[in-house]
Amino acid sequence: MKVTVLLKNDHAALKDLFNKFKKPSHTRTPNGKKDLFNEIQREILVHSQMEQDIFYPALTTTSSTRGAELVSQAEQEHRSVEKLLQELNAMHGTDKNFEQKMSVLMDEVLRHIDMEESDIFDEARKNLPEYRLEELGLEMEDRRKILVTLAA
Ligand SMILES: [Fe+2]
Repeated sequence: MKVTVLLKNDHAALKDLFNKFKKPSHTRTPNGKKDLFNEIQREILVHSQMEQDIFYPALTTTSSTRGAELVSQAEQEHRSVEKLLQELNAMHGTDKNFEQKMSVLMDEVLRHIDMEESDIFDEARKNLPEYRLEELGLEMEDRRKILVTLAA
């Protein structure tokens, strides 16, 4: 599977979790909220780790300056998302700011996903041959298995 397809599937799974969080039935209880947050956090962390370890370096080693710029922007966005995750981690599902911070997190992640799927994927398709995109997809699938085992 091409790396772009794999990441897009991941993004879609994350969007599903966000929609689930927005449904009151799943977030009625503080524990329900925190459980869903934990699931969202795990998905985000595994996903960003795979990008930072495999996808982004592949893009920065091409001759594209635009690619390198976009990667550094994306890494900055990852850091900002990680900071929000840490803040949410320290909160209880009952905290009155929990949901508000969750919305900030979801908005930031959604914006980041859009940027990645348009600008970064474009750059990847322009600068990496088809076989390389396939190869990176395989590498990422393997890496995910390892990261998920470690996170369990
Ligand atoms: Fe990303």
